[in-house]
Amino acid sequence: MQDIDGYVDLVNRAVSFLRERLETIPQTAMILGTGLSGLADVIDVSHELAYTDIPGFPQLTVQSHQGTLMLGSLAGTPIIALNGRAHLYEGYDARQVTFSVRVLGALGIKTLIVSNACGGMRQEHRAGDIMLIEDHINLMGTNPLEGPNHDPWGPRFPDMSDPYATSLRKLARSKADEIGVPIHEGVYVAVVGPNLETRAEYRMLQRMGADVVGMSTVPEVLVAQHMGMQVLAFSIITDECDPDNLSPISIEDVLAAADRAGRPMSELLTTIIPSLP
Ligand code: HPA
Repeated sequence: MQDIDGYVDLVNRAVSFLRERLETIPQTAMILGTGLSGLADVIDVSHELAYTDIPGFPQLTVQSHQGTLMLGSLAGTPIIALNGRAHLYEGYDARQVTFSVRVLGALGIKTLIVSNACGGMRQEHRAGDIMLIEDHINLMGTNPLEGPNHDPWGPRFPDMSDPYATSLRKLARSKADEIGVPIHEGVYVAVVGPNLETRAEYRMLQRMGADVVGMSTVPEVLVAQHMGMQVLAFSIITDECDPDNLSPISIEDVLAAADRAGRPMSELLTTIIPSLP
């Protein structure tokens, strides 16, 4: 990994670059995951910047991710949306995939909303369903907080007793019930990918206490926690991972399932975001 001083400098350069271009910095930011770039349609965008133009932002290599930072408002609430993310499976290290989250934290973002596509491992999970993440397991074998700690960003040993703020989960649950959008709740396990899991791996992940599996989110949440941001995270179940009845899955199937969840996810976010503390 890059030395920490060089990394901190690059984050600071991106922060100055964005401060010069964005007249206001909102309190809330959102990361749009695989197949969820349609959520950008509910944002009234005032500025859009390509990751390629922002110092230090990783260049995305997967087509299902757009790679733009948007400033705007959602249901009247100012927001930054990162449309697309970098993944470990693209060859980036844990610090690189969380670079944009470091920048958000250094800009002063208080609440981070994360979304992703995942495989559902419970019998009741159907492709296109939404799950509120209540906790996670890091099975990526790496951690963006490895290496020297930059104390101004956060503590050496960050607490993880409530990584997905209970208060925000309660709010999300009550709003989802209010507007009649069904949501599951459960544990997300993060793996590197890019392959999907074998039947034996799904069985192992179920037994270790995970409900869904995906290839992102956890590094971002670790950095957000390190910097004191509150996190609310949603997984879209894009494939049903029953080890006893596993069928092959294509990226097209994943994107189609994520697309089906686009509308209810937009309704949820439009209801939750104006009520954030
Ligand atoms: N496994 C891991 N990551 C995923 C899956 C899966 O089944 N589906 C979407 N992302």
